[in-house]
Amino acid sequence: MAFSPFQWLYSILQWILTSIFSPDPPAPGARLRRPKIAIVGAGLTGVSAASHCVGHGFDVVLFEAGGKDHLGGIWSKVNSTSGLQIHSIMYRFHPGVKFDEGYPKQNAIVGQVEKLWKMYHLEDKTLFNTKVEKVYKDKQNRWIVNDPSNGRFDGVIAAVGTCGDPKMPHLPSQDKFKGEIHHSSNLDGIDGKGKKVTIIGGGASGVEALEWAVETGASEINVLARSDKWIVPRNAFVDILLAFNIFGQETLFSWVPENILRLFFYRDLKDIAPADQGLFTETPMVNSEIFRQIRQGKAKWLRGDIEDLTEQGVQFIKRAKGVPKGGPGHSLLVEADVIIMATGYKRPSLSFLPDEVFEEPYGPPRWYLQVFPPSHPSICANNCTYVNAIGTVGNYHIGIYTRLLLMFLVDPLTTPKTFWMKRWIDMTSTLKALAPTRAFDFFTYSELIYWFCFVVLINPFRWKWALFVFFGIGKGLPAQVVGHEDRLRNGLGYKKSYLD
Ligand SMILES: Cc1cc2nc3c(=O)[nH]c(=O)nc-3n(C[C@H](O)[C@H](O)[C@H](O)COP(=O)(O)OP(=O)(O)OC[C@H]3O[C@@H](n4cnc5c(N)ncnc54)[C@H](O)[C@@H]3O)c2cc1C
Ligand SMILES: NC(=O)c1ccc[n+]([C@@H]2O[C@H](COP(=O)([O-])OP(=O)(O)OC[C@H]3O[C@@H](n4cnc5c(N)ncnc54)[C@H](OP(=O)(O)O)[C@@H]3O)[C@@H](O)[C@H]2O)c1
Repeated sequence: MAFSPFQWLYSILQWILTSIFSPDPPAPGARLRRPKIAIVGAGLTGVSAASHCVGHGFDVVLFEAGGKDHLGGIWSKVNSTSGLQIHSIMYRFHPGVKFDEGYPKQNAIVGQVEKLWKMYHLEDKTLFNTKVEKVYKDKQNRWIVNDPSNGRFDGVIAAVGTCGDPKMPHLPSQDKFKGEIHHSSNLDGIDGKGKKVTIIGGGASGVEALEWAVETGASEINVLARSDKWIVPRNAFVDILLAFNIFGQETLFSWVPENILRLFFYRDLKDIAPADQGLFTETPMVNSEIFRQIRQGKAKWLRGDIEDLTEQGVQFIKRAKGVPKGGPGHSLLVEADVIIMATGYKRPSLSFLPDEVFEEPYGPPRWYLQVFPPSHPSICANNCTYVNAIGTVGNYHIGIYTRLLLMFLVDPLTTPKTFWMKRWIDMTSTLKALAPTRAFDFFTYSELIYWFCFVVLINPFRWKWALFVFFGIGKGLPAQVVGHEDRLRNGLGYKKSYLD
């Protein structure tokens, strides 16, 4: 590989981040302390959260529905050609992660999850082929996962993700089609050379399938998108800048980035940009290549609705910009040898959690900091309640949420009360009352950081934990203070924390 100064600097930066912020793995077989945490899901969120817990000396059990080959979650189930669309500096899902490339592919990401899993000795703490069906409390107020033989836990981290099984909607007259139909996550080993490839779905997977079709040498590529989504450049600086909108919603100034994107990024392809949907309403796609492919005539992007399938392909109603889904348009046959269903994934269920966490109006994602249900602050649904965002799933917040949970469990004076959790949710909803989406249906990364700062600052008992919560360092001093607080509180007849 040719020497790249940027890659060299990136390697140094990662080394520094790892050296400062990565907690030391416990010695093999070391006895870990309470609070003990049950973690549901061994994707990158679950493995990262577990590594943080054991790195700080707290015991865990990881429950994974799939076998060992599912370590890495959704990334273990997608194409080897799939990769990050955002720069990996925004996808270092644990401080111990090291990427050799700016935009790593599937096997490099799974490799980093495996590395963490081994480094933090999680082999003995993972139960594969164990789907969590229910989580409930015993008489001592400890969590039981499925049944008591799995142990008792002080906290639960749900890390089931948002991408479950592939969604394969049945298309009208699908049986008539003579060609092949595949889901976009299942393209390894498929040969598209010289074939007419039609991609159904205009999301991130549709874009990725388009790139696959170009690489495999398809003779004709059409993407059929029934709704418009924003596409932003694959540029770490631009993507971080967009995530800087601390309001986490459309503002009076949203027209500025939207028009800059139309003028300088979409240019002659403005027709593809959403007509009446703001940039800060839905997760944008991050890609700079597809416009080049379209300009070079390698692919077409068609907006419209599928009428039905014929022997030769898809009968499609092409709509003009601004005409809503199902509206009038021009009917045409899009010929295809291969149809790729880039139609997304089913959302994994959180229904193993107790019923009260779903009670309206405080059902997910309307939870404290979006992840702690107000009825149970000892549950943290890390990365699996979000709907849309400008940010990233694999970043610092996994550690911050995990350490917030640890702080709530270790130090009872920091544990939020149900009443105040609900007031925070109400306050955030009021602040975002003018947002075109519901308050928790869209956020930006800087809004998330503001949420964290707010909840740490609002309660003086949390101040001593700030360095630990934000950076994973400085646990000793607050732990000592909690010890003193405990002794004082015990004198007053309160329950002890776990530190004695
Ligand atoms: C091709 C592709 C590319 C992507 N690229 C990006 C990107 O560039 N940036 C970005 O931010 N996001 C991206 N994503 C989104 C991706 O979902 C997240 O980035 C991330 O991988 C989610 O990790 P996770 O651990 O939270 O969930 P998952 O990886 O989905 O893992 C969840 C795990 O939980 C297990 N599980 C579920 N239910 C249960 C249960 N009841 N009991 C036990 N186990 C259970 C599942 O088997 C699974 O292993 C991409 C997604 C795909 C499909
Ligand atoms: N490398 C990456 O960064 C990458 C790659 C892949 C996926 N992902 C992530 O994975 C998640 C899922 O992305 P995704 O693209 O797979 O799914 P998605 O965002 O849900 O997009 C699915 C697309 O399929 C369309 N669709 C669904 N059902 C349809 C039907 N019956 N007929 C016609 N069109 C239909 C949808 O249209 P409507 O919008 O109108 O419903 C949408 O355009 C996202 O979080 C995404 O960011 C990331």
